[in-house]
Amino acid sequence: MPYLCFFILFLFIIIKLVESVLVHKPGGKHIINEYNRFKTLGDETRRKIVNILAADITEKNGTSPPRQVKEKYARGIVSLFPYLSDPMSKNGYEHYYDGESGTGYLAWRIKTIQRGLGKERRASFEGLSAEVMSGGPTVRRESEFTPETVLSEDECKEAIAFMNHSADEDAVKKMMKLTFDYRRNMVLDHMQSSDILTVFPRFKDVKGLIEQDFVLMFGEGVSGKLLEKWTTAFKKKVIQQCKKLPTTSDVGELLLAAESPSDDSEEGVNFVWDTDLSSILLLLHLIPPSAQGRKRPGKVSASQAEKHLVVFKKSGTNIEEHLRNITASAQPYLLAVGPQKKSVHQYFIILDQHAIPCKSTSSLGAFDELFKAHFVFGTSYNTMLHNMYTFIQTTVYNIDVGKVKESPRVAEVRARLLS
Ligand SMILES: *[C@@H]1O[C@H](CO)[C@@H](O)[C@H](O)[C@H]1NC(C)=O
Ligand SMILES: *[C@@H]1O[C@H](CO)[C@@H](O)[C@H](O)[C@H]1NC(C)=O
Ligand SMILES: *[C@@H]1O[C@H](CO)[C@@H](O)[C@H](O)[C@H]1NC(C)=O
Repeated sequence: MPYLCFFILFLFIIIKLVESVLVHKPGGKHIINEYNRFKTLGDETRRKIVNILAADITEKNGTSPPRQVKEKYARGIVSLFPYLSDPMSKNGYEHYYDGESGTGYLAWRIKTIQRGLGKERRASFEGLSAEVMSGGPTVRRESEFTPETVLSEDECKEAIAFMNHSADEDAVKKMMKLTFDYRRNMVLDHMQSSDILTVFPRFKDVKGLIEQDFVLMFGEGVSGKLLEKWTTAFKKKVIQQCKKLPTTSDVGELLLAAESPSDDSEEGVNFVWDTDLSSILLLLHLIPPSAQGRKRPGKVSASQAEKHLVVFKKSGTNIEEHLRNITASAQPYLLAVGPQKKSVHQYFIILDQHAIPCKSTSSLGAFDELFKAHFVFGTSYNTMLHNMYTFIQTTVYNIDVGKVKESPRVAEVRARLLS
């Protein structure tokens, strides 16, 4: 009890601290008003509050302020403005300052101030080691599924030989289930993982095998989340948030496509994707490739990153030739084939110059399979899509929440969508 009283007093003090800084700095009152009106802060206003508070910290405690000071201010922000709190992180304020890794908007701003003063740059490497914590598609994990019959290695090899030629798809699916553990070990072994589609070639003609392995890893509940929640809980909010982004022609086109009903066959808009895929691609603009707060030369744009997620080819394109053309990419992407982008007849997952036909013919279903392919084949996310995939992983599928390092932008967007 005394501890609780102390904590409430402490919260009261830090709320007052942040509030009084804002009230006394130019632009600060505007921030409070915006929050009260909209129950959130836009990107511009968030930058402003971070700049004001970082300036205050360095004024009072120097350009290398201790961790507790930064934590105090970060906690102050989400205590004064509870809708800015991230519902999935431990303290809710890690996107402003994460003491474990030394990252977050406040930390970055303070580093910029240090740099401006010609200080050492060493600090920018702080936190890199925490970058890869212990989650994501490449880690070994307990599977949901425990096999009833455990096959010996020889039995697995027999099953693999059987599957190679069997015309009975149901039997192949069953054998794939029985060889799941054998395959997981192969996937996680660096020496063998690239052979997976050679040893298990039926991924390339029996549809639904990616889904089956993913369900064995995570269970039906997790597996269904994207299809269940995207159109009902996320899509509209993503569109809403993207309307606040600086307008570019790319975002404008995607917004138009995302908001059009799916059966809209108006002429002239045939070069855009269908409504669901457009909303997924908008997420790439909302959580861009290098959302590090400051612009870097050579920064990849969301539109460039799109090509690593989905590529369109007109019906009749020679898929084999497309595969020969690509310079081995370790990360999977979607190949969409159809008469035009918004009416795709078949999606393929392209991985290591193999084409795996998607079971689903809907764009959302194909994206769901693409995401799952990362876990089934143990491939890391493409660096350009890393932030966006991490958002999908934690916020939509709830996989490895609190175990993977997320960029502050991921947490910020989540706070806006879920609060
Ligand atoms: C930070 O600055 C405040 C105000 O000047 C001061 O009271 C506090 O002791 C300082 N904290 C540290 C850890 O230096
Ligand atoms: C599968 O069949 C192909 C051709 O029929 C053969 O080259 C390959 O070695 C076989 N793979 C296995 C694992 O039996
Ligand atoms: C393969 O590359 C060639 C030359 O760059 C190009 O002309 C051709 O259209 C490409 N084919 C496919 C299927 O992408």
